[in-house]
Amino acid sequence: MISYARQNPEQQPDGTPPPAEDHIAPAPRVSVQAFCETVETAGAVQSAGEDRRLGKAHLKIQMGGMAAAVEAYRSAPTPNVIILETEGRSDILSGLDQLATVCDSGTRVIVIGRLNDVALYRELVRRGVSDYVIAPVSTIDIVRSVCNLFSAPEAKAVGRIIAVVGAKGGVGASTLAHNVAWAIARDLALDSVVADLDLAFGTAGLDYNQDPPQGIADAVFSPDRVDTAFIDRLLSKCTDHLSLLAAPATLDRVYDFGADAFDSIFDTLRTTMPCIVLDVPHQWSGWTKRALIAADDILIVAAPDLANLRNTKNIFDLLKASRPNDRAPLYCLNQVGVPKRPEINASEFAKAIESQPIASIPFEPQMFGSAANNGQMIAEISATHRTTEMFLQIAQRLTGRGETKKPRGMSFLSPLIEKLRAK
Ligand SMILES: Nc1ncnc2c1ncn2[C@@H]1O[C@H](COP(=O)(O)OP(=O)(O)OP(=O)(O)O)[C@@H](O)[C@H]1O
Ligand SMILES: [Mg+2]
Repeated sequence: MISYARQNPEQQPDGTPPPAEDHIAPAPRVSVQAFCETVETAGAVQSAGEDRRLGKAHLKIQMGGMAAAVEAYRSAPTPNVIILETEGRSDILSGLDQLATVCDSGTRVIVIGRLNDVALYRELVRRGVSDYVIAPVSTIDIVRSVCNLFSAPEAKAVGRIIAVVGAKGGVGASTLAHNVAWAIARDLALDSVVADLDLAFGTAGLDYNQDPPQGIADAVFSPDRVDTAFIDRLLSKCTDHLSLLAAPATLDRVYDFGADAFDSIFDTLRTTMPCIVLDVPHQWSGWTKRALIAADDILIVAAPDLANLRNTKNIFDLLKASRPNDRAPLYCLNQVGVPKRPEINASEFAKAIESQPIASIPFEPQMFGSAANNGQMIAEISATHRTTEMFLQIAQRLTGRGETKKPRGMSFLSPLIEKLRAK
């Protein structure tokens, strides 16, 4: 079987989440038209169109395969991407030749077929087909195939968004976001930015001991000016690899945003920054929900009590349902072991959430208190402390770095012909 006819990452047989390095960058605002022959493929394409990564794409699906496509484009202009399902062999090639005469330049073609045949691949490549996916196709196969048409090979590492949110206020979500981002930047040497989305009360500036004059408010209140150069000027550098897009933490304005207010900021950050950590405040609004759903990975931080358990489950279930083609959100426990406080333990959490916490971070008031009041990271206070080690493990888990990587076969982005040679 060819390497890219992979399974839906949610459905790995051993129940482990799909690897974090299986990163598919969202597609830009493109038009996609699919001509299917089977209802199964039409169904997969339909649910791919509902995936967050194709949220900007305009997708149209019709039945009738190659013949319908040739007919349709006799008079109409071709979209950015045509997906063609075809059952046979001779009809693919003659159909593509016909299509070539009506296709606008720049239109890319993805063929879904049943035949696993090198000679056929070569013919398809010769005709300029961008990708060939073997049926039966899963939703994620379609998502990956379309998105990969628009991401350069070197962009593979670029633009992963990690959203960190608390199950309740004050549980340490920001503290974790800042310390984990620090570990990503320092220990994993990934260029990272922390975006403090708690505009009124955010503490990222305090925690990194920075007081920048500009930050995220300048961008969100001037959406027309947002581009790479503009955002670059708003970042303040914390360490070699870490920058901060700080919250103003002032109250002269109110911060009621529309659901897509931060979209252009995130899109812009994605184009230049390998890792973007969102410090999402504990609130449920159109834009916080959207930021969580659109993130590549999510970390929910919970303290070990009943309200946290309920909220973690609600956030977890909602995000899982809204992101059917992604690995499940991750969560961790924090402030575990407050003296004399009755707690709900990790195994009870795991049972209710149906997923294990990725860490249980102890309550250490002395250490966290001095870090917060001195504008330092836990690693700066104690490089060898077990909590420092936990932050590094969370960083590795979230980025997929530092884990032993399983060989993943051929790169999906290598030209089709490379894959054929390797067969
Ligand atoms: N493991 C811990 N042990 C002791 N104190 C902690 C721990 N984690 C966080 N804290 C402290 O808890 C307080 C709240 O942390 P933080 O501001 O990160 O929470 P938050 O969830 O982001 O809160 P908010 O809802 O205000 O955004 C801080 O004073 C922080 O230093
Ligand atoms: Mg916070």
